[in-house]
Amino acid sequence: MNKNLVVLGMQWGDEGKGKVIDCLSKKFHYIVRYQGGHNAGHTLLVNDQKIVLHLIPSGVLHKHTKLFLGNGVVISPIDFIKEIDILSSYNISLENRLFISRNCFLVLGYHINMDLAREKKLGKYLIGTTGRGIGPTYEDKVARRGITVGDLFNEDLLSQKLKNNIDYYNFQLNHYYNYSTVKFDDIFLNLIKYKDILLSKVKDIPYLLNYYNDTEPKNILFEGAQGALLDLDHGTFPYVTSSNTTIGGVFTGSGVNLNSINCVLGIFKAYCTRVGSGPFPTELTDELNSYFVDKGKEIGSTTGRRRRTGWLDLVLLSRMVSLNSVSSLCLTKIDVFDGLSEFKVCIGYQNYDDLNVLSMSSSVLDWNSIRPVYKVFSGWKTSLLGITKFSDLPTEAKYYIHYIENFVGVPINIISTGPDRSSIIMVRDIIN
Ligand code: IMP
Repeated sequence: MNKNLVVLGMQWGDEGKGKVIDCLSKKFHYIVRYQGGHNAGHTLLVNDQKIVLHLIPSGVLHKHTKLFLGNGVVISPIDFIKEIDILSSYNISLENRLFISRNCFLVLGYHINMDLAREKKLGKYLIGTTGRGIGPTYEDKVARRGITVGDLFNEDLLSQKLKNNIDYYNFQLNHYYNYSTVKFDDIFLNLIKYKDILLSKVKDIPYLLNYYNDTEPKNILFEGAQGALLDLDHGTFPYVTSSNTTIGGVFTGSGVNLNSINCVLGIFKAYCTRVGSGPFPTELTDELNSYFVDKGKEIGSTTGRRRRTGWLDLVLLSRMVSLNSVSSLCLTKIDVFDGLSEFKVCIGYQNYDDLNVLSMSSSVLDWNSIRPVYKVFSGWKTSLLGITKFSDLPTEAKYYIHYIENFVGVPINIISTGPDRSSIIMVRDIIN
């Protein structure tokens, strides 16, 4: 029987999914991205050199894997080609390994200008987007005017759609935002330049995934980008991204059928981080914030921004575990607590009884009024860095892990104990 896995971030992104997916990839033949675009970022080590990928799935270093970008992914042609070129300069070929849906929407120059212009206009109320044009691209999809990979098959239609869109956006950029406009020729000529390579990768992804699942004893891994709390519908709206980062996105964004999913692995950090604006009940602003930024290397891989940091929030984690049918958890960066004599975990909100804060609309809920209730845990005296066996963990770390498992009701089956591939504890097999 196939064992297909969804890997989802349980917080605001940057939970360390890339490394865990890389470690799990040997058991999977097909790796699928189904939402987001080049706003995501994961760092890979190739021949001891760091490379950052934004669009191409994390399992790329394993040559046996085939990689898919489902219809829910938005593709910036320039960045897509750039990543292929970077990988090829390291002798990693994507020939016959990387496939995209013809229904992926394209991120184009005017989306980026709109994203930046809107953020500028919002001033201190800005969302803190990655500035990659992701929101405006998804808006175009919903508004049914967006340009897809499939549109590249017909140059006349492409040119017409592009003209209309550029008229529409340049008017707003110029007259409403007082921001720089874009030129038709620049965008069109680039699309023509990249069209053959994009079109050579087009496949009917829903058909293929369902066919593989029915006929081949090979496993599929669905790689979530961003984190569940950045979901457009279920996250901390409006400080969210513009796609569905929660479980439903797998189905709409890839076309795989419901019966194809066997396990959902939720990944969370021992503490929390977020980039950009928005609610963060357990946020730290004192020297502990600097501790986590420095020790946890909490600098965004896409934008280079310093991440905000805070204590682990079990209220939000429990809600995301339940909402996403998470069957296994993976805890990352526990080694960052080495050196702390004690640390805290949020186990409730003092002034909200039902704990279902995310169900309240943001206009009703004043996030600043939330007072987290903390449980204090003792730290440990030895280093956890690089530990590979659960039995080698100090008692205090085991207690912390079991506490989380009991609180959220789902086992922690993987623990990452450092940035290296080998620094990982596989407590239980999630895939046989
Ligand atoms: P956008 O996706 O660029 O529109 O940004 C919307 C929000 O999502 C901002 O707060 C971003 O910082 C955040 N965001 C988008 N992608 C990522 C990611 O990969 N990791 C963490 N935060 C992200």
